[in-house]
Amino acid sequence: MTKTFDHGGTVFATARSLGIDVGELVDFSASINPLGPPPGVRESVAAVFDRLVHYPDSDCTRLAGLLAERHGVPTDCLCLGNGSTELIYLIPRLAAGSRALLIAPTFSEYGRALHLAGWQCDRHFFSASSRFALDLDALGTDLARGYDLLFLCNPGNPTGRLYSREEVAGVIDLCREQGTLLVLDEAFMDFCEEASAKDLVVDGGCGVVLRSMTKFYGFPGLRLGYALAEPSLAARLAALRPPWSVNTLAQEAGLAALADPEYAKRTRAYVARERERLAAGLAALRGVEVYPGAANYLLAELTYCMTGAELQRALLSRRLLIRDCAGFAGLDGRFFRVAVRTRQENELLLAALGEVLRES
Ligand SMILES: Cc1ncc(COP(=O)(O)O)c(C=O)c1O
Repeated sequence: MTKTFDHGGTVFATARSLGIDVGELVDFSASINPLGPPPGVRESVAAVFDRLVHYPDSDCTRLAGLLAERHGVPTDCLCLGNGSTELIYLIPRLAAGSRALLIAPTFSEYGRALHLAGWQCDRHFFSASSRFALDLDALGTDLARGYDLLFLCNPGNPTGRLYSREEVAGVIDLCREQGTLLVLDEAFMDFCEEASAKDLVVDGGCGVVLRSMTKFYGFPGLRLGYALAEPSLAARLAALRPPWSVNTLAQEAGLAALADPEYAKRTRAYVARERERLAAGLAALRGVEVYPGAANYLLAELTYCMTGAELQRALLSRRLLIRDCAGFAGLDGRFFRVAVRTRQENELLLAALGEVLRES
């Protein structure tokens, strides 16, 4: 079968190639809440089984209402999707034009969606040497070359770097000056909600904010995401969506997840604590430099002796799967990304990394 994309989380293919069961792998390559889905999700998904004889509510009325309340926006600012990936693939049809600029290194699906839609796609690189800092002057110069769309991921994936509201406000100003539609991907922003610039984008009517419910709420297998935008943009995005794209189980899972604020609090505290421990553990390894991250993953660089691909192979023999970042434009073979998982799993990873690096 043809491989169509390059991602973390390829656990089924990896397990198949090793001849093992998926459950035997510890997946550090996809960045999913280590606490799993909120406890109420299982029950609520099971409880709606009998409703599967009906088509789903195409407008996701209850979930859109609850999300609108949570984000402090009117319901007509929301457009739900079958994961935020579905919305990424609709955006080239939302924007009039043919030239997009991606702030890189970044999530590969923006480029793929744009290419499939026939767009020209250029990249504005943030450098590892500046720790992926945002240079507004340099971005302004690139943007002035004339782009219809700009993609910014915050916190950045795979970098983990968080840009402040002030920095994003600067990007919004640039987009406004240039007449560029901004796509601000906040797929991981639930881990640091106070930094979200959703209100700046929605109130300013200058773009679309993408949010994912699969990472923070731990159910990527269910597919659920949404966009926040001013009502006319949100309505145009919704009009591009196939009917029933958000299935009944995903809608119910979303409602149950949002009904558990304690889980969200617990997740933020747990991930912040374990991320700091994992970062310290990585930094203590000889030949590893770790970049600061604001979400549930960390980017690291091997400063000598091994590539990310070699490290990935060595760890795979211990049934630990990490993300080799060589495929990200703007990074090279030295970079790898790991998810923040449970303390026990993170310690397992650190011990294995220590052994592999010592043997190399
Ligand atoms: C930055 C970013 N945006 C969007 C997505 C898509 O998430 P989903 O389609 O599961 O909502 C991902 C998935 O890895 C991602 O990393």
